[in-house]
Amino acid sequence: MLRFQFDSPPRILCERGAALRLAPLLQGKGCAHAFVVTDPGLVRAGMVDAPVAALRDAGLRVTVYDQVEADPPEHVVLAATAAARAAGADGVIGLGGGSSLDTAKLVALLAATPQALADIYGPNRARGPRLSLIQVPTTAGTGSEATPTSVVSTPDHQKRGVISPLLLPDVAVLDATLTLGLPPAPTAMTGVDAMVHAIEAYTTRHLKNPVSDALAVRALQLLHTHLGRAVAQGNDIEAREGMLLGSALAGMAFANAPVAAIHALAHPLGSHFHMPHGLANALVMVPVLRFNRSVVGHRYAELARALDPVCLGQDDAAAADAFIALMEQHVAQAPIPQRLRDVGIAEADVPTLARAAMDVRRLLDNNARDVSESEALALYSESF
Ligand SMILES: NC(=O)c1ccc[n+]([C@@H]2O[C@H](COP(=O)([O-])OP(=O)(O)OC[C@H]3O[C@@H](n4cnc5c(N)ncnc54)[C@H](O)[C@@H]3O)[C@@H](O)[C@H]2O)c1
Ligand SMILES: [Fe+2]
Repeated sequence: MLRFQFDSPPRILCERGAALRLAPLLQGKGCAHAFVVTDPGLVRAGMVDAPVAALRDAGLRVTVYDQVEADPPEHVVLAATAAARAAGADGVIGLGGGSSLDTAKLVALLAATPQALADIYGPNRARGPRLSLIQVPTTAGTGSEATPTSVVSTPDHQKRGVISPLLLPDVAVLDATLTLGLPPAPTAMTGVDAMVHAIEAYTTRHLKNPVSDALAVRALQLLHTHLGRAVAQGNDIEAREGMLLGSALAGMAFANAPVAAIHALAHPLGSHFHMPHGLANALVMVPVLRFNRSVVGHRYAELARALDPVCLGQDDAAAADAFIALMEQHVAQAPIPQRLRDVGIAEADVPTLARAAMDVRRLLDNNARDVSESEALALYSESF
């Protein structure tokens, strides 16, 4: 029996230059004061001035919070929320990578409905209403603009998620011109993150559904086709558009068919070693794909056939191998560190990572194959 539910942002606006035309989206919701959530890197890159000027030109009051940190810690979320309340903002715009978008989600919620952050971690514990929310990603990416999740770093080195349909934006705006200046390494890291979203959504143990499947396949096709181009030629707007759309589709997919062991093993790398989220995923992806192959090899074969016509004539075993080889190639060709030892992790840290991964039950439970602590240790060792 087919039984599923699918939640998504009510509107996606995909248009080059759309970041300069955000005002009507908020004014249409009756907003007069926009609170823009972004980070210092984007301000330095000169990406915040023009969208903010356009909002002001259209008659909106604007307050900018530009102190978001990567893997946003709780104190950043709380400081941004306090600033939004003090300003009297009635609409929130997230402008940036996943860190800014995740912060913007919680600001929109907590500024309108005060509740303790510690009380709302986990699924469906948040209460509304929230302020109007527009999400504008500048990486491709986390897909955060299309997910009901906000990931926060807690003081005890954990990454915890607030998960609620209230965190889906009113509009997700895909403006590929914003991603033209993203350097090759973050382009590759965030691109692999998006691929992992699609793969894990398609192979998840829980809540796999036909809408997510269709989105994941299309996302992976777009990401597979455009990642190399976007890394090699940052100003290739078509490649950037393919990546941004692929990332959003993958986000919609995994919002409803949750990610699993690759993300579970990536979490401790982010929370203990401050490794960028996409890089952490890239470093553990291939070992986990090989580990899961005995259970979901036929799914990998389906994905391989969607990516490469050569695989259409192959049996499942050959096509699954081809899929893993394609993904391995994406990581190998990316201008990023290739092994845990290359990013300052010592072999003695591996057992600590394996133990910490066991705490990421929420994601491990979604994995097609059970992962024990000793298996996690073997997977990290393979990446070492
Ligand atoms: N909510 C979700 O569903 C979800 C999914 C996956 C990841 N995440 C979270 O997202 C975060 C990671 O996000 P991210 O990988 O997008 O990176 P990020 O938001 O942490 O940004 C990384 C760096 O890239 C810079 N940057 C971003 N866009 C740029 C551009 N166009 N040009 C130049 N520099 C640019 C930023 O200034 C920053 O210094 C993590 O906290 C992770 O946990 C959330
Ligand atoms: Fe991710």
